[in-house]
Amino acid sequence: MSVRQGPWTVADVPDQSGRTAVVTGANSGIGFEAAAVLARRGAVTVLACRDAGKAEAAAARMTSAAPGASVSVVRLDLASLDSVRAAAAEILARHERLDLLINNAGLMWPAYGKTADGFELQFGTNHLGHFALTGLLEAMLPGPASGPVQGLPGTAFLHRPVPRRKHPGATVGRVRAAHRRDLRPRVIAAAGPSPWLNSRRVR
Ligand SMILES: NC(=O)c1ccc[n+]([C@@H]2O[C@H](COP(=O)([O-])OP(=O)(O)OC[C@H]3O[C@@H](n4cnc5c(N)ncnc54)[C@H](OP(=O)(O)O)[C@@H]3O)[C@@H](O)[C@H]2O)c1
Repeated sequence: MSVRQGPWTVADVPDQSGRTAVVTGANSGIGFEAAAVLARRGAVTVLACRDAGKAEAAAARMTSAAPGASVSVVRLDLASLDSVRAAAAEILARHERLDLLINNAGLMWPAYGKTADGFELQFGTNHLGHFALTGLLEAMLPGPASGPVQGLPGTAFLHRPVPRRKHPGATVGRVRAAHRRDLRPRVIAAAGPSPWLNSRRVR
């Protein structure tokens, strides 16, 4: 696929009509901006956020800026696998398709703490929560042959379990390359787990 030269801006985001996007941590910051653009471009946009009040306020801001936009809220606390399961079940029940999963939510250097399941808070939230969410929604994501679903290569692929029979004796680098090859066509920004990947050119 060719890579365009020059700065890429929101004006370059193509029409998203007919597509469904889930953005985690969409009530503020990068997640809010990404979700707002997707909604404005016509995507059915789901704000997956831990604070329903903040999420509803964000949805209201998006729809007031783009009347007619389809924006809804799902409660998701990535620091609780029960919440991740419930959010995934709600998304599966409410939507027939999922074209974009933007794993944006995350914490940066919080005080030491643990998730509801006993994992260190930042790792459990940014990585394990998103890993579980991605796995639970994976069946909804379009397959590699479905076309122009683009995403930043994100750490979601770094944590996908790889059967040993598929990659016997694989090194970490080879496993990562396999994950990237398997998932990149249908996945998924991961601003939270690896923010530096945001700066990578979309390809
Ligand atoms: N902006 C930067 O320069 C920068 C630099 C390095 C890394 N990052 C990472 O990039 C991502 C977006 O950055 P940002 O600046 O837009 O961050 P932000 O404004 O702080 O937004 C983070 C979002 O993650 C949500 N979140 C935190 N813990 C969560 C949990 N357990 N479950 C669900 N949602 C949770 C927050 O929800 P609440 O509003 O409820 O807290 C918020 O919506 C973050 O993951 C951040 O760590 C950003």
